[in-house]
Formats: sequence, C-alpha cells, structure tokens
Amino acid sequence: MSGVFITFEGADGSGKTTQLRRAAERLINTDVELVVTREPGGSSAGAEIRALVLETRDQPISPVAELLLIEADRAQHVQETIAPALERGALVLCDRFTDATVAYQGAGRGLDLELIATVNRVATGGLQPDLTLLFDIEVEEAMRRLAARAGSAGEDAPTRFDMERADFHDRVRRGYLAIAAAEPSRVAVIDANRPVDEVGGDVDRLLDEIRCRFGI
Ligand code: TMP
Repeated sequence: MSGVFITFEGADGSGKTTQLRRAAERLINTDVELVVTREPGGSSAGAEIRALVLETRDQPISPVAELLLIEADRAQHVQETIAPALERGALVLCDRFTDATVAYQGAGRGLDLELIATVNRVATGGLQPDLTLLFDIEVEEAMRRLAARAGSAGEDAPTRFDMERADFHDRVRRGYLAIAAAEPSRVAVIDANRPVDEVGGDVDRLLDEIRCRFGI
C-alpha cells in the first residue's frame, strides 16, 4: 500500500480529537489526498455500532460483547474505508484504532490480551499504523476536562467510558504507555497536559517528519 496510516490515541479528555482536527486543517491544503476517520463509528454501520457501544443503558453490554461490536465496526471500516484509501496513496488520519482496544478492553476491562491481539488481527487483516500519536495525560487533568466539557453546549452526552471511575482511566493510561514502551518506533508519546498550541507544535513536527520519510 502506498499511503500513510496515522492513528491518534489517548484517554478521553486528552485532547486528541482537537489535535486531529487541527492537523487535518493544516494538511487539507497539501497535494496529498487526506482521509479523516474514526473508531468506533467509521464504517457504514458505524453510527449504529457506536451508539450500541457508547450509550448508557439499564442492562450494560458485557465486556466481550463490547469487544466484538468494536471489532465488527473495525473489520468493516478497514475493508471499506482505510485499506482502499491507503491503496489510493492517501494520508489517513484515524481517531483511535487497535491500540484503543488493547488499552480499554484489555487494560481497562481486563480482557485477555492474547484474545484482543487475535481479534484485532482478524478485524484488520494485520494492518498496522505507520505512526501512532499517543496523547498522554494525567488522569486527574483528563477527568477535570471531561467534567468541564460535560456542561458546555454542543457537546455529546457523556459516554459509558466517560462515566467510569478514576481507577479504570488509570489502567487505560498504563495500558497505552505499555504499548508505547513495547513499540517505541511506531508510537510517539506526546505530553497532553500542556496547552493546545504547544501540543499542536509537537504534532506538526511529527507529521512533517513522517511525510518526509514517506515522501508524501
Ligand atoms: P472517542 O470519544 O475518542 O470517539 O471514543 C469513544 C470511546 O470508545 C472511548 O471512550 C473509548 C472507546 N473505545 C474502546 O473502548 N475501544 C476501542 O477499541 C475504541 C476504538 C474505542
């Protein structure tokens, strides 16, 4: 595949989606085709699956059901959006991908990491990001931002994950950092406790580096 695949990962409240939008605005004027997408929710069945995974309900779905819904969305998303875009030579920016499943369903929910590796491989056909930007933030700061965001107009209702306790978010954070420690050449850890523009400066530099490396 001739395109470049970049994923944005991090805790809820880490600012990764703001940074992805900012990066996309900067890249939209370049020659390369830009595809901006997200998980869960990037496939044609994505809106329904996203709602199933994120909405609070009286009878919560089980961790395994949650995992399989996310992977179903991912399988469809890779097949219909990400792989064709990469084959066309596009630059694909994806808000969350397989690392989120390792961090949330693995470290957060406690599901077996081998099982997660297997279903991730089945869903993606082995596709891996060329670069992952991990927005790392202190749990207290992330929770403070989420609480502030919850009251503001135009924001989505808090999801099942937003409403988890600090110890869940702490496990997710450690899960992400363990991935970064295991794969330092793919995963760049960005200190997301800092102001948006400072974080954005790091993002710009890393994206410029990888575009230069891949010549796009
Ligand atoms: P978002 O707010 O970044 O769009 O993500 C929605 C939620 O989905 C987020 O709280 C984490 C969760 N999620 C998982 O638990 N596992 C996954 O594999 C993905 C992609 C998302």
